[in-house]
Amino acid sequence: MTLHRSQTLFDAAGGVARITEMTTAFYKKALVDPLLSPLFAKGDANHAKYLASWFSVIFGGPQDYLSERGDIGFVIWKHVAMHITDHQRARWVNLMREAAAEVEIDERFLVPFDRFIDTVSRDVQANSHIPKEELRERLGITEYATDVRFEP
Ligand code: HEM
Repeated sequence: MTLHRSQTLFDAAGGVARITEMTTAFYKKALVDPLLSPLFAKGDANHAKYLASWFSVIFGGPQDYLSERGDIGFVIWKHVAMHITDHQRARWVNLMREAAAEVEIDERFLVPFDRFIDTVSRDVQANSHIPKEELRERLGITEYATDVRFEP
């Protein structure tokens, strides 16, 4: 099946419902994974919802995340000083792939999504090693300093 010109990857995936199924399946796995649980255990129970909402922004769906949570700088900041290792990055990507397969997400979404997570997770990992103050400066997020969402 091919995409129609007016169809977004978000539509091809099956919209927010199917993407949330995928991120929920991912989060369940991450929480019990020996490599990832130390990072995710102290996290936000809404993680699956936020992640789905961010994917919606990226893949042409509703843009609510931008007004409700933040922009790309905010998402990068959420990983500040996590010091993500190569193994953790690879595991994150693999668990997301497993989750996508489990919910049988449409392959028209899956193929570009797979490239996206492989590439972007490397940026996320690299940024996670930048010292906190330097990253804050780079992202120009000082105005949010008192915003609780920005507490790492
Ligand atoms: C394609 C790559 C990635 C994207 C697009 C992404 C995106 C996000 C988003 C949107 C959030 C939620 C921000 C919010 O609170 O609204 C988040 C949180 C988080 N991410 Fe990532 N991320 C990526 C890769 C990774 C990797 C490789 C790791 C670690 C191996 C990681 C670990 C985390 C953790 C621990 C949280 C906090 C979870 C929580 O609050 O429960 N992320 N990420």
